[in-house]
Amino acid sequence: MVAVAILAAGRGTRMKSALPKVLHSLGGRTLVERVLQSCFSISPTRCLVIVGYQSDQVKTAMQSVPELEFVEQTEQLGTGHAIQQLLPHLEGFTGDLLVLNGDVPLLKPDTLKQLVQTHQENQNAATILTAILPNPQGYGRVFCDSQNIIKQIVEDRDCTEAQKQNRRINAGVYCFRWPDLAQVLPLLQANNDQQEYYLTDIVNHLEPVMAVDVTDYEEILGINDRQQLATAYEILQRRVKSEWMAAGVTLIDPASITIDDTVQLQPDVIIEPQTHLRGNTVIQSGCRIGPGSLIENSQLDENVTVLYSVITDSIIHAGTQIGPYAHLRGHAEVGTGCRVGNFVELKNSKLGSKTNVAHLSYLGDATLGERVNIGAGTITANYDGVKKHPTRIGDRSKTGSGNVFVAPVTLGADVTVAAGSVVTEDVPDDCLVIARARQVVKPGWRLKSKGVGEQGGPETPSPS
Ligand code: UD1
Ligand code: CA
Repeated sequence: MVAVAILAAGRGTRMKSALPKVLHSLGGRTLVERVLQSCFSISPTRCLVIVGYQSDQVKTAMQSVPELEFVEQTEQLGTGHAIQQLLPHLEGFTGDLLVLNGDVPLLKPDTLKQLVQTHQENQNAATILTAILPNPQGYGRVFCDSQNIIKQIVEDRDCTEAQKQNRRINAGVYCFRWPDLAQVLPLLQANNDQQEYYLTDIVNHLEPVMAVDVTDYEEILGINDRQQLATAYEILQRRVKSEWMAAGVTLIDPASITIDDTVQLQPDVIIEPQTHLRGNTVIQSGCRIGPGSLIENSQLDENVTVLYSVITDSIIHAGTQIGPYAHLRGHAEVGTGCRVGNFVELKNSKLGSKTNVAHLSYLGDATLGERVNIGAGTITANYDGVKKHPTRIGDRSKTGSGNVFVAPVTLGADVTVAAGSVVTEDVPDDCLVIARARQVVKPGWRLKSKGVGEQGGPETPSPS
């Protein structure tokens, strides 16, 4: 039986931010969400999150996660003080408690599993994840005997010069036998540089406390400032990209590409340079994305190509070509085998299969049938200043260049619209619609200022 406690009450002063540190985003997810995600692998029986600084904001951000218990630490007097707040909540609990710092977002689930396993097999009072870092600056240093039994943990700021030479650090991940911990928690004292109650001082009261070194020290990076946030992003990106390449995705110039770890890709997807894939994006086999594209929360079926375009919250069906320079947003849905081309914006619009919008157009709140062709420079005037209105265009209809559809308006199937038309009324099936002023040509007409007669007409010499 393992319960989890996540320390998320601190302000994170070193971030220099109005936002609580644990709510800073790393590749599309907050730090604390990532910590939570890493511990689900051990199927905790309970999950307690210790909140304090702007606790309402932290709770709101996590409200979608089921069965979290929030514990308030109204004053942030240190990590030990934070864990002391659990005492009334875990009364009578006899299992182990896994404690995670809310700012250690890159832990691999297996690492936590192994920590708990080692803890239980050795019947330790506590087991602490440690690492040997090339640059241990800023972390608490862990001092062990030859059997990996921890004798002391000293925070960086409390270390003597000699102690600072120790490169073995505390990762901020602990497994405790809860009844033992509960007994000694009240013994902590704030005798240190920060006058805080350090959880790490607990090693002076429990026995045995074992250190377990993590093999890949990148996992345990703690985020205290923006520099470390950027480093964590780099590590995450390296991980995500090598996993996708191993799974059969081609990345051309990976360093210029970013992929959130929430994105799903199929084999034989090709990602070109300067492309960014974010959120809940799913891209199927045979797609070629980029160069220079941003895809967010969108679904791309097989063999879609996207060139220099931005697609958010949209669905593109198989074999469709997007771009260059298209912008799809607000739940656009494009059918199979379509072309959405140069400087076209689609918002909340649906295109049937084999429909083309090739040049310089805006379609908002529009529903187009199959095999529709939209002429260059077509606009749906969907907004009357108060409300949005729909435009419907039936199968096989062809609109002209420079059309405006003043919504709400519906065109049937097989309609042809003359170039330059402003369509304000519905059009039935099989019609030609011409909605523009007829051209007037006045022969022999010149401007008066150029010495032209009253009604135009031939130039008459003025009397001198
Ligand atoms: C802590 C450890 C250090 C370790 C490092 C690993 C202590 C005393 N030190 O240092 O040994 O090497 O993590 O990353 O534990 N928090 C609260 N309430 C508080 C104070 C902090 O909930 O009163 C939370 C913070 O929100 C944060 C976590 O505890 O998520 C760690 O606090 P932080 O101040 O970042 O500790 P470090 O100095 O990094
Ligand atoms: Ca920290």
